[in-house]
Amino acid sequence: MKKKLPLTGSGYSEDKILSITKSLGEKIIFQEAQGKAPALTDQPFLILAPIRGITDHIFRTLFQRHFGGADQAIAPFINPQPHANTAVRQLQDLLPENNLALPVIPQFLHPDPDGLVALACGLHDLGYTEINWNLGCPAPMVTRKRRGSGLLPYPEAILALLDFVLPRIPLRLSIKTRLGLNHPDELTTLLPLLNEYPLTEIIIHARLGRQLYTGSADPDHFGHCLALSRHPLVYNGDITTPAIMTRLQTQFPGPRKWMIGRGLLADPFLALTIKGHHPSPEQRRARLKAFHQELFTTYQNHLNGPGHLLGRMKQLWFYLAASFPEQQKLWKRIKKTSTVEQYGAIIDQLFQS
Ligand SMILES: Cc1cc2nc3c(=O)[nH]c(=O)nc-3n(C[C@H](O)[C@H](O)[C@H](O)COP(=O)(O)O)c2cc1C
Repeated sequence: MKKKLPLTGSGYSEDKILSITKSLGEKIIFQEAQGKAPALTDQPFLILAPIRGITDHIFRTLFQRHFGGADQAIAPFINPQPHANTAVRQLQDLLPENNLALPVIPQFLHPDPDGLVALACGLHDLGYTEINWNLGCPAPMVTRKRRGSGLLPYPEAILALLDFVLPRIPLRLSIKTRLGLNHPDELTTLLPLLNEYPLTEIIIHARLGRQLYTGSADPDHFGHCLALSRHPLVYNGDITTPAIMTRLQTQFPGPRKWMIGRGLLADPFLALTIKGHHPSPEQRRARLKAFHQELFTTYQNHLNGPGHLLGRMKQLWFYLAASFPEQQKLWKRIKKTSTVEQYGAIIDQLFQS
């Protein structure tokens, strides 16, 4: 006997009922994943860092399906929007049905208090339980407006936003920050003040904002921060090999979360390797090829024209070229392509077995 669908008798067509049931089912799976307390085990808990322009929901999903090893992701920042249309477009990346492969935490940058409360309520309706505040963005056009790491010299403004927002949002809040904009004193002044607030965690990219991405991350300063905060601190910055991860775990023992960005783009097997899996060179090649193929095809269907498609793929290859021999030469060739055909020819040659 044919099983009766829920909502039968509602007047909806069978197709409509199936689509509602599917999206409700997806929402439940998604909410269960969101609500799950992250299990901290002997294995390091690895968070895929937000990299705007690369780690959107398509990348996050395919990354996790083809390589795996990440436990969570923070999505690239979105901003509270005055116009409903832009808000809908931004939320596309965070729709539950687009985020079934990897639990994700949304991030915002602009600290507009009212817009933020509205955004948080919208995200809560989608099933999210936590939101992350980007207090680390180093771009001069952002910091000039006292946003991102540009707010770090003004702790009173940070506390004022927390005072306003925390009682009004139905989500938990975490912070992603840097050591300071100009000086590490900025974060060491702020951290004890944040102890009064119910934050879930603070992710620290161990560089100053004014360094942008130059120089190297400074784990010793992260160590100073540990002594000042009652919140769980997550280390971020320049984890590019399993050996570096091991060194950091020795320096900062105990169950801890770690965030990795560019290291995972350059070597998508890094998270898996850190967790003790060692795919053979043939397996690596096959998985990279399958990942690339699916990513390219999916972007081809989603993005508006070859210019956007090539631009998006080049942003990834800037890092991913490091996974291949003669990486500089490869990157230069890919960078120069101006048609999908030229690009395809380089990729075919690269993955020729
Ligand atoms: C191109 C690019 C885009 C980024 N976008 C974001 C973002 O949207 N939000 C954020 O918090 N950090 C962003 N970051 C910073 C990374 O999340 C991360 O903190 C930084 O790259 C240091 O970690 P890593 O050395 O593991 O890459 C971005 C970094 C780069 C290079």
